[in-house]
Amino acid sequence: MSGRRVTIAIDGPAGAGKSTVARLVAERLGYLYIDTGAMYRALTLKALERGEDLNDGEALSALAAQTDIRLAGEGPLGQARVLLDGRDVSAEIRSPAVNGAVSLVAQVPGVREALVSMQRRLAEGGGVVMDGRDIGTVVLPHAEFKFFLTAALAERARRRAKDLAAQGHDEALPAIEEEVARRDRLDSERAVSPLRQAEDAEVIDTTSMTVDEVVGHILGRVRGLT
Ligand code: DC
Repeated sequence: MSGRRVTIAIDGPAGAGKSTVARLVAERLGYLYIDTGAMYRALTLKALERGEDLNDGEALSALAAQTDIRLAGEGPLGQARVLLDGRDVSAEIRSPAVNGAVSLVAQVPGVREALVSMQRRLAEGGGVVMDGRDIGTVVLPHAEFKFFLTAALAERARRRAKDLAAQGHDEALPAIEEEVARRDRLDSERAVSPLRQAEDAEVIDTTSMTVDEVVGHILGRVRGLT
């Protein structure tokens, strides 16, 4: 592999395996992993803590403009460590309360503007793997590699349940499946930057693939062309 450090965009719905895969691909390439969902989650946590009205787009946009979000190395369960105004919130941003509210916060145009510009700054210079919903379409339309990970709803719910249980949040599978479906709907139907596959993205259905298989596939593509 040559020394060229490219930019890799990974999008897809909740539970498709994006963050696990993106983190491992970054690790194997010695790249920076940027979890953009964690950024929306951190802002959502702040809004909840402050008792903001989640339907007040102006208040949420103002809050986003005054918020410092950093991703720093590895946190619990191998996920990115997230610092919200200097405070480590890596665990709190995965709570059911944040899961339930994050789609509302993420649909506010002013919130997206603030976070997208942070994300673009982080990706300057290449050598990054970024995952989210709008990375290949909006944040990094010129990324050298774009992948869109999907999986059947039932499988995505099962993976979510496992993640939640590992973090001490036991929830019944049907409720999780409903929550994942609700987030799919909100994320796909919102007016600004909806979840959508970039035309030049490669779709990978991970329903019956292992994490290693997905990572191997992506590394194969990237190593073949860098
Ligand atoms: O990937 P995740 O479940 O951590 O993402 C949390 C929420 O943030 C998800 O419901 C949609 C939103 N999101 C977004 O709108 N744009 C992104 N680039 C990443 C996440």
